[in-house]
Amino acid sequence: MSKVWPTSLPDRDWQFKQKESVHDLLSRMTLAEKVGQMTQVEKNSISPEEVTEYAIGSVLSGGGGNPMPNMPQEWADMVHGFKEAARKTRLGIPLIYGVDAIHGHNNVVGATIFPHNIGLGATRDADLVEQIGRITATELVATGVRWTFAPCVAVPHDLRWGRTYEGYSEDTNLVAELGAACVRGLQNTHGAQAVLSCPKHYVGDGATTWGSGRSYDWIIEQWPAADHDWPIDQGISEVDEATLRAKHISPYIAAIEAGAMSIMVSYSSWDGAKLHAHKYLLTDVLKNEIGFHGFLVSDWMAIDQIDPDYYTCVVASINAGLDMIMVPFNFRRCVSTLTQAVENGDVPLERINDAVARILTVKFALGLFDEPSRNEHPISDIGAESHRQVAREAVRKSLVVLKNDDHTLPVPRNMKQILVAGQAADDIGLQCGGWTIEWMGKPGHSTPGTTLLTAIRGVVSPDTTIDYSPDGHFRGADEMAEIGLVVLSESPYAEGTGDRADLTLSAADVALIERVRPHCQQLVVILFSGRPLIITDHLEKFDAFIAAWLPGTEGQGIADVLFGDYPFTGRLAYSWPKRMNQIPLKGMAESGEDPLFPFGFGLA
Ligand code: BGC
Ligand code: BGC
Repeated sequence: MSKVWPTSLPDRDWQFKQKESVHDLLSRMTLAEKVGQMTQVEKNSISPEEVTEYAIGSVLSGGGGNPMPNMPQEWADMVHGFKEAARKTRLGIPLIYGVDAIHGHNNVVGATIFPHNIGLGATRDADLVEQIGRITATELVATGVRWTFAPCVAVPHDLRWGRTYEGYSEDTNLVAELGAACVRGLQNTHGAQAVLSCPKHYVGDGATTWGSGRSYDWIIEQWPAADHDWPIDQGISEVDEATLRAKHISPYIAAIEAGAMSIMVSYSSWDGAKLHAHKYLLTDVLKNEIGFHGFLVSDWMAIDQIDPDYYTCVVASINAGLDMIMVPFNFRRCVSTLTQAVENGDVPLERINDAVARILTVKFALGLFDEPSRNEHPISDIGAESHRQVAREAVRKSLVVLKNDDHTLPVPRNMKQILVAGQAADDIGLQCGGWTIEWMGKPGHSTPGTTLLTAIRGVVSPDTTIDYSPDGHFRGADEMAEIGLVVLSESPYAEGTGDRADLTLSAADVALIERVRPHCQQLVVILFSGRPLIITDHLEKFDAFIAAWLPGTEGQGIADVLFGDYPFTGRLAYSWPKRMNQIPLKGMAESGEDPLFPFGFGLA
């Protein structure tokens, strides 16, 4: 049986009283107020006045849904404005504001940005993940945000998927362990200042088949440069029920046991139906069988994919068990359609009452009804030095050394000359990856932090010369440097814009390596990426190779281990394929070859 409440929140007696309060409140609500609670609107599509008028229950910032200027104080003011608008409604039911804080409060300039989940998987450190959850909650609460769409507990099986880095591991147990730790960190240690977690995307988002996705035209309009072909993201999970349960549902059970009270539904399909219309998986399995008492929120415009007719989308999703609809744009259409559906008897009132009771129960559990008008955490908590120290520790522990010939690592800090090459060596945006300030992230100085190059400069002896060239042209360097350091990266992406058929190292990266190789005795390659890339044909040229994933703002964590202040401890949370035919995971066995590096590998 699952726990309904985070353990630090009030006792059974209190729970009973809240049940009474929910019941009482529900009996006084009009249909319009109930529909309002079930509607979550993106902040760019609604004003505080409209929140009051429609008694809206939740507002979100999508990826990059930032106030201008994008600063912590502006965030706090914006969120406060929406909450105050909800207080002005007839019943004053508090509004819950949601964001994607998936590696720290990552939309906010100045926040601490932690490694993406793929890096945390390599740390295998549940205590650390819990601590990161706690810090993320502190930074969220400093801006008044009490809900994050995290953790992603996908179990990715295909590295071509653009969301691989959002998953901790290809291994279910590791995902379940770290996902539950994140839930505890966000929710349990804060009492009245808990942040609601939202494990996502229920379920099978990581199990979709390459080629079962589609093309999305809206991408062309909003993000002209991005790939609008999403061959695997949001596709079809072709696994049998036993596999779905054992591999993909089980992390949700762990998360619910840890106290998760909201869950986001997946865009993907299983057994002939979109998850958003899947009554069996949403209601029969998750709510009735597993005993999930929290509420289900849809993904961004996801119900719209159920059917060309919006009325059908609303009816099918709510009747399947969806409790809150995430509406990026036209919330009036959502409100009027759901109201109509209830009036027509196509959505039973009991279903509406159940959905609203679930939402209100969670709002009570979080203490939102008693929340002070301004939260208690100071804005200076955002990006605080003590938080950055934990992010730095996470970076240290996430690095995986895959090759280290002739003791190249650790690098002595008193070398005469070190060559550093690659734009990624001095670029916070590339170091952070997607879901950083913008939805897809962006190269360049997007937020304060320490790049690897700055970190290295701070660590080496005063007599060491660091020569840096983004493109690896070391003119005049006819002498050999002792060490060459090439930093490679994927360009940032999010969701299906990162679906890539071929994960082979790019020609530009290979050229960079070729340019630097003749100028150094030993070559260390560091890769920033959201997944393993195919490096097999080039590995021979490297003396040492470090997978650094998407480490975030604290580049000193890399310097800490590179120069031997701390040991390398990270181990692969994903198998590292030798060739493309070993992707997806089942290709590994079918290929008859070993992976380049197996799951769990990592040199000390
Ligand atoms: C938004 C993201 C959202 C995505 C939908 C973007 O425009 O900024 O928050 O996740 O669209 O896939
Ligand atoms: C993504 C979710 C995210 C939501 C809100 C969607 O496009 O799939 O992971 O929580 O947008 O930004």
